[in-house]
Amino acid sequence: MTRAKIIGLGAYAPERILSNHDLEKMVDTTDEWIFSRTGIRERRIAATGEDTSDMCVNAAAMAFESSGLAASDIDLIIAATVTPDYRLPSTSCMIQKKIKAVNSATMDVVAACAGFIHGLSIAQAYIATGVYRNIMIFGAEKLSSITDYEDRNTCVLFGDGAGAAILTAADDDSGILSTYLKSDGNLDRLLHIPGGGTNKPYGANGNYDRKETLLRMSGNEVFKYAVRHMGDASMRVIKDAGLSPDDIDLLVPHQANIRIIKATADRLGMPQEKVFMNIEKFGNTSAASVPLALHDAVQQGRIKKGDLVLSVAFGGGLTWGAAVIRW
Ligand SMILES: CC(C)(COP(=O)(O)OP(=O)(O)OC[C@H]1O[C@@H](n2cnc3c(N)ncnc32)[C@H](O)[C@@H]1OP(=O)(O)O)[C@@H](O)C(=O)NCCC(=O)NCCS
Repeated sequence: MTRAKIIGLGAYAPERILSNHDLEKMVDTTDEWIFSRTGIRERRIAATGEDTSDMCVNAAAMAFESSGLAASDIDLIIAATVTPDYRLPSTSCMIQKKIKAVNSATMDVVAACAGFIHGLSIAQAYIATGVYRNIMIFGAEKLSSITDYEDRNTCVLFGDGAGAAILTAADDDSGILSTYLKSDGNLDRLLHIPGGGTNKPYGANGNYDRKETLLRMSGNEVFKYAVRHMGDASMRVIKDAGLSPDDIDLLVPHQANIRIIKATADRLGMPQEKVFMNIEKFGNTSAASVPLALHDAVQQGRIKKGDLVLSVAFGGGLTWGAAVIRW
């Protein structure tokens, strides 16, 4: 079967920095608490009027440059986001318009922090079956638009950003070796936005409570499931690729919390030097987190040609997934 390989990566983080010290002035928290519990020092916040698709356009420019492809070469755009520009049309359509990818189909994926991994799996399937050749995946979020900056349990965690990857049919032994996706909708209440959808429309029956349109989370519960499922998903893709954890050169996990990342690495028996983290700078950027981390890892020379990379993510839904890639 034809494998899909990543031939270009791009990343964008908005200019404005929201530091832990800034948050100390907004809610009852401290830099020490946030850093020791999460590993986060600062996160980026998009400007007013800077939409999710705008951030994607910036990431796309970098991905085109590194891939050597042009927008007109793209057959399919997948946009993973829970913070779309509009409810209709899709964010992938907005990106298509802005980057002028006139020959592409588009689709959005709503799988929260696991969205980019879902994109990898979809791209792999389409490329393997020859339906599409060049696929562009975006993981992008303007989480500041759904964050309650009066809730110290959540507002210290999240940030904005966008990452892009261009995949094409591999002509060598590199590419995606295995992927795994799973969800558990029974755990929907652990991480959710109660209002604004058909269940509780904003404005209907006098419901104008903006807080209902902001993210709520049971942090402790999410933490436990994250550790369990990220470990299990990782083991599964490693096995499906015919490998053992020792073979993996670098773990590039979803940047949710340094303690979740360390627990996942421990379950795999992977030493810290084989784990990539940039959570300190960006916080949890949901679907943008994995491509931002992959991009940084390549830029820093932590991923080289031929390396075996494991990526794993977990998020609201609940959803989770993992992929093993030979670079
Ligand atoms: C949110 C998270 C950092 C909280 O860390 P924790 O060690 O579980 O902390 P707890 O929730 O047990 O809270 C401990 C105490 O700190 C308090 N606290 C919570 N946020 C705080 C903050 N920003 N500053 C100071 N204190 C805070 C709590 O109120 C609680 O106080 P109490 O004992 O008086 O009630 C952690 O649960 C987490 O990262 N969960 C996963 C979140 C995640 O990744 N979500 C996205 C999915 S990808």
